[in-house]
Amino acid sequence: MEMIGLRASAGMAALLAGVATPGLAWSQPAAPAAVERPSAATLTPLPHGVELREGDRRMRVDALTDRILRVRVARDGRYPEDASWAVPAAVRAQGAAVTAAPDGFATAALRVRLVGSPARLVVEDRDGHVISADADQPLTRDGRGFTLRKALPQGEHIFGLGDKTGSDFDRRGNSYVDWNTDAFGFTSSQDPIYKSIPFFIGVGGAGGSYGLLLDNSWRAFFDFGHRDADTIALGAPDGPIDYYLIAGPSTADVVRGYAALTGPSPMPPLWALGYQQSRYSYMSAAEVRTLAARLRAERVPTDVIWLDIDFQDRNRPFTVNSQAFPDFAGLIHDMGAEGLKIVAITDLHIPALPGAGYAPYESGLAGHHFVRKPDGSLYVAPVWPGPSVFPDFTETSARRWWGTLFKPFVADGVAGFWNDMNEPAIFETPTKTMPLDTVHRVASDDFAPRDASHAEIHNVFGMENSRATYEGLLALRPDERPFVMTRASYAGGQRYAVTWTGDNLSTWDHLRLSVHQLVNLGLSGFAYGAADVGGFAGGPSADLLTRWFEIGAFTPVFRDHSAKGTPRAEPWVDGPAHLAIRRRFVETRYRLMPYLYALADQTARTGDPIMRPVFYDYPEALNASCDQSMSFTLGKALLVAAPPKMESPQSYDVCLPAGGWYDFWTGQPVAGRTTDGADQPIQSATQAAAGPRTASLRLTEQPRLDRLPVFVRAGTILPRQPLVQSLSETPQGPLALDVYPGDDCAGVLYADDGHSLGYRRGAFLRQTVRCTVTPTGLSIRFAAREGRFTPWWRDIAITVHGWQGGGEARLEGRRIATQGDAGAGTLTFTLPAPRGAATLTLARN
Ligand code: GLC
Repeated sequence: MEMIGLRASAGMAALLAGVATPGLAWSQPAAPAAVERPSAATLTPLPHGVELREGDRRMRVDALTDRILRVRVARDGRYPEDASWAVPAAVRAQGAAVTAAPDGFATAALRVRLVGSPARLVVEDRDGHVISADADQPLTRDGRGFTLRKALPQGEHIFGLGDKTGSDFDRRGNSYVDWNTDAFGFTSSQDPIYKSIPFFIGVGGAGGSYGLLLDNSWRAFFDFGHRDADTIALGAPDGPIDYYLIAGPSTADVVRGYAALTGPSPMPPLWALGYQQSRYSYMSAAEVRTLAARLRAERVPTDVIWLDIDFQDRNRPFTVNSQAFPDFAGLIHDMGAEGLKIVAITDLHIPALPGAGYAPYESGLAGHHFVRKPDGSLYVAPVWPGPSVFPDFTETSARRWWGTLFKPFVADGVAGFWNDMNEPAIFETPTKTMPLDTVHRVASDDFAPRDASHAEIHNVFGMENSRATYEGLLALRPDERPFVMTRASYAGGQRYAVTWTGDNLSTWDHLRLSVHQLVNLGLSGFAYGAADVGGFAGGPSADLLTRWFEIGAFTPVFRDHSAKGTPRAEPWVDGPAHLAIRRRFVETRYRLMPYLYALADQTARTGDPIMRPVFYDYPEALNASCDQSMSFTLGKALLVAAPPKMESPQSYDVCLPAGGWYDFWTGQPVAGRTTDGADQPIQSATQAAAGPRTASLRLTEQPRLDRLPVFVRAGTILPRQPLVQSLSETPQGPLALDVYPGDDCAGVLYADDGHSLGYRRGAFLRQTVRCTVTPTGLSIRFAAREGRFTPWWRDIAITVHGWQGGGEARLEGRRIATQGDAGAGTLTFTLPAPRGAATLTLARN
């Protein structure tokens, strides 16, 4: 965007903003003497922000919304091109109303100030609490490289940055580099690995949580108080100085703001939330059939079997090994009859096979769709199939061509596709990827067409690969939700694909690491993350695999996967005792599907992650006195507290935020010590809800292999369904609603057809249910259904927990038979599912 145009509109903006002297240079304005002033700086109002000129520094700050700012710095007098792989054009085009001020401007929520010399950008809330402030040297340059510096206050924690490793959730004290890397067997401190999500969240500062997205695809770096304890330094060796600041104040506000910028993770097909069985590789159709039969015989609910590279002819993408898989379509059809979907790998490398009749190579070559060397010749390098060429995914035309290659597989009924190796991984070279001067064509979105080096494109290459697959599948099946899994990605990649953490190891350390990675991925836009259950390489011990199933059952995408040559890792490999535990956790997940699916709906609409750090919904947890490094929540309602020292038999403490909790497994209200050490007697939930909020609790847990502590927030209405072996089955029986009375008591029922885009046209059902403790018992209110989808359930079986004695239930005055269980502390009854608003009144007797 050119400066000239902005100048022309500046006067008008100032007028609109009610500033008396339009177009004024703010170097000498009448402002309170206490205001720190830029000395040699000039501020010019813009329609939605301000421009700073200070020596040869030119910077503009625009408010996209009241809480989201975009900051751009000119290079050689010109602003970077207004184009982005991460932030769609329509979002970038937004502008909020601003009021010009002597030192910057204000939005309805923020004060944006440029103060001091050199001018520092300070963003405050309207009460003057600093949300984010530049450090003393806000910007330095080194050739084409740049470093931005922000203050890192003492009390601030840092989260996000995608799948990066670390010994805890918090990234403070560490530094990172964004460079998508095939990192087989990475360690818990290795960096960089597969993804580059240049977005982080600062939590705990005076002005609340904020997020920063550095929209620069080059080899960016982030230093969160590593080199200088009080400073966040970030930058890149080249590319645009273009970043977004998202003000909270809550962490959830920031994550939702990031979703508004880069797009939320869309609704996946329902089956993608089921258990998924993978292996590198199931080598033949016969093996797949045997596996499917065993999964069903052992009654391990399963929805997906994955086909890794060996299903192909000599590792060639878009082929099938017709000896090992003689009737591919027949296999997929038969698996479908068993309620099993097939996901097939389709790596991006296309073997260079001139004259061999290999269509992807020939059609790609004819369409000029492959990446080239600086001399114009094709870039050819070895990957799984041998010497290969690489589609130029930053060109719309190449993406379209790629999308058409899926046609026969879609026709055969393959349900989803797996884009691996898309960092891109290259064999036999120490850098593991393309030379930096390899040439990509950028001809896409609102970018001006041009050639770009691999140094610029590397970090978005995998995302654009998954985008090509996603858009291709949508073109082939316009009303079906595409399912794509990608290994590499960039900010915004959640719009196209789910992801997993790559080639982890079968170690306790990696199980621990996977929780940190998945939580940070969720905070970085990727609500759907998986880690290979059991670990990809090395072979898990029986106990490790069992624990991994337990924790994996509460993660967004639940896939068991293992490498060639390693011991098998299917659920039954360690005998019946281990299988029984693993099956129980898979079953628990399947029963919880209505809750998980309602979370998916919430994610698609708001960007709220599915798997969250405890402080996401309970900010006090940020400073809890327990080791919470293995605690997380699944939505707001469920808190999973795995042992922080995974292998140790030593007992550990769990801190539960204030408000009251129930044990997920027993349904009983939880007692414990308050966090200040006093004993907290068991309270009935109705007492807890009626009286003052129950203080935060501290419990001591003794690790046991067959138990994973899970708690339900008091104030939850948790939907569950009868057990099925596949999500393609219609559950038989009523929807179960477990009511755990407490403050702000609510739950959401959500249903749709599970696979089409009909939900976007009103073919969904959403119904909120609330409960309130009354002097005589409890009232449960169903809001009217939203949407026009008819769900599978006709009846609802309600269990009220924390209930003392018997009770009477009336639905809109009509009496319903109830059953009390004094031992369990429950009252249960079944009613026809209300369609319109309806109130249930429960009275103790
Ligand atoms: C890569 C993937 C792994 C896959 C293997 C073979 O290592 O990360 O999941 O099994 O390639 O395709």
